[in-house]
Amino acid sequence: MSCTEKRGFTIPRDEVLWALPETDEQVEALQDLLNNTEVILWQPVVVENIQKGREVHFYVRASNINSIKAQLRQLTIQHKVLLGDVQGIIEKQTANDTVNARGSSSYYENYHSMKEIYRWMDTVVQVHSDLLQKIYIGSSYEKRPLYVLKAIHVRERDRTMTTLLEHFDFYIMPVINVDGYEYTWSHPSNRLWRKSRSSHGNSKCIGTDMNRNFDAHWCGPGASHSECQEIYCGPYPESEPEVKAVARFVRDHKDTIKAYITMHSYSQLVLFPYSYTMNKSKDHEELIDYTSTALNMLKLLLEEQSPVVLDILKRYESLAQKAAKAIKRTTWKTYRSGAGAQTIYLAPGGSDDWAYDLGIKYSFTFELRDTGTYGFLLPPREIKPTCLEALSAVKEIAQHVLQNL
Ligand code: ARG
Ligand code: ZN
Repeated sequence: MSCTEKRGFTIPRDEVLWALPETDEQVEALQDLLNNTEVILWQPVVVENIQKGREVHFYVRASNINSIKAQLRQLTIQHKVLLGDVQGIIEKQTANDTVNARGSSSYYENYHSMKEIYRWMDTVVQVHSDLLQKIYIGSSYEKRPLYVLKAIHVRERDRTMTTLLEHFDFYIMPVINVDGYEYTWSHPSNRLWRKSRSSHGNSKCIGTDMNRNFDAHWCGPGASHSECQEIYCGPYPESEPEVKAVARFVRDHKDTIKAYITMHSYSQLVLFPYSYTMNKSKDHEELIDYTSTALNMLKLLLEEQSPVVLDILKRYESLAQKAAKAIKRTTWKTYRSGAGAQTIYLAPGGSDDWAYDLGIKYSFTFELRDTGTYGFLLPPREIKPTCLEALSAVKEIAQHVLQNL
């Protein structure tokens, strides 16, 4: 157990643990252990998704740490400490809310509260009134406004960006879960809150998983009808006012929207539909990598990499893979790509699948940094490079869309 000295006392700290079950028995034992102890799963999102040979990350309160570690040892499940002082990390990450001027570059190297993000939106829209517009699309369960920023064409230093903005408008929603996000700041012990803050009927638990609340195979396998679960799908599709607002906005613009991207953390993935089924989507071939297909065998057989062959291969290369490669060129980080359900787990009711079935062919979920070193507590110094790599992937997708209009 890691401890911090404070006025002579040693305070035990919460930890994030890593475990790797390697047999079916260990998977089952770990599921039991995590079900029967008060832990917050970081990866995967629910114990049912724990698989042999796949890393499991979970948050353990200080008082439970010794007992959990003893049991893991007894079960001979490989494990280690990922983060030894969770409260310390959270305190540091939430300390710098407004010390940097809005618009200064260091402002983008810190996390900010919801109140501060609202002020920031006003400021940027004012300062760049020629480029940005703020659109009100509805209000949250707790009656906070929901805004989308619209970026329109101006001359940019970046030539690719100029071209893209000449052809497309970009709609950006900085925060969808405004209530949940605010809650993570006002209640530091709940900095890792995931769900909305709604309450339906006389449920004893608060919150719906917004990424299980869209009308795409709503509440099938991979979501839960139990209010207390992290993947609670809500009482009905679009029960969450935030989900309804986004769905309405996208529906109202569906004939002009060419691509939809939703940004999550963490795992470093570029995912495309479907997540609600293991089946391939109709555009799987364009969206996915060809690693598992005959084309890849062809690639192996063709020793000679003639320009013609390379050109053919490039054209068949998946868009998701191109996006991942753009990231690699930008920051050298490795992002994997694939269809959601096949790559991580079944997750119905997600916004990407919903947008895709609405007719938006280019629909993606980015799972940003990292792969588990800090997980949901990514250090502020990684914010900027994460944004740069995500932006390069967005540009790659936008260019592809432009070439295929
Ligand atoms: N972090 C995501 C979640 O559990 C991954 C889900 C992927 N689902 C999807 N529809 N793309 O919410
Ligand atoms: Zn997510």
